[in-house]
Amino acid sequence: MKTVIYYFSGTGNSLVLARGLATRLGADEPVNLRHCRGREIQDDADRVGIVFPVYAFGPPQLVVRFLNGFSTAASYVFAICNCGGSPGSALRFAAGLLQRRGIRLAAGFSIVMPSNYLPFGGAPAVERQQQLFLAAGKRLDRIGELVAAGVVMAPEKTSWLPDWFSHAVYRWFVAGMKKSSRKFFVTDQCTRCGLCEKICPVGNITLTDGRPQWGERCEMCLACLQWCPAQAIAFGREYRGRRHYHHPDVAAADLM
Ligand SMILES: Cc1cc2nc3c(=O)[nH]c(=O)nc-3n(C[C@H](O)[C@H](O)[C@H](O)COP(=O)(O)O)c2cc1C
Repeated sequence: MKTVIYYFSGTGNSLVLARGLATRLGADEPVNLRHCRGREIQDDADRVGIVFPVYAFGPPQLVVRFLNGFSTAASYVFAICNCGGSPGSALRFAAGLLQRRGIRLAAGFSIVMPSNYLPFGGAPAVERQQQLFLAAGKRLDRIGELVAAGVVMAPEKTSWLPDWFSHAVYRWFVAGMKKSSRKFFVTDQCTRCGLCEKICPVGNITLTDGRPQWGERCEMCLACLQWCPAQAIAFGREYRGRRHYHHPDVAAADLM
């Protein structure tokens, strides 16, 4: 059975999960959605998986655009979202977009990984990160079994959070993305290495004298900030000093 796994990742968590699942299902290297931008995607897989991080209880806009242009003849389509604690209704939102394309989301799973969202307080301590990786590995084992068996189930969501609330928070987040992206700035610690420009999944960063400037297409994935080797990029003065994060088993080049 041919399985194709698509993923989007700002800081590596989704890539690690996508790769872990690919190994368990005997699939090829997962496809990075940053390379599918602006194209209608059609594949010839029997089984398709989509792995993405949760942004404000919903999927990243890059994933939304992908789903809006996606077609497949696969008989089994599943999704895995990952989040710092609460997926809200992200999977149900993705299921709705797929439904509009005539595709049924057979199953949707959520996994907790270390949070990369500085406004929520920065990344957890390294010890806690290790615990989360261990738990995620066990969860992937189970998800791998369910997917291999072709189990059909309703997409998981945060049990206490009504859909309307998730959707309201998500709409507010998406409406404010352009404004939020103006909070990025670079400090004198910048070494002009240019990694931020390369890691941005939507080409939203240009370099002036080697230092980043942000345009208006920010996805808010925080990759520029989290991968900066000099920790020279900040998102609002109030969040400076918070613990940065990217998955320890992923290199920036893996995401480019
Ligand atoms: C803009 C933004 C919004 C986020 N919103 C949520 C959220 O609503 N709930 C949550 O539990 N985690 C949230 N997170 C944390 C990420 O979903 C989580 O760290 C994820 O594992 C990151 O995956 P990645 O490394 O593949 O980018 C958010 C992160 C970002 C950057």
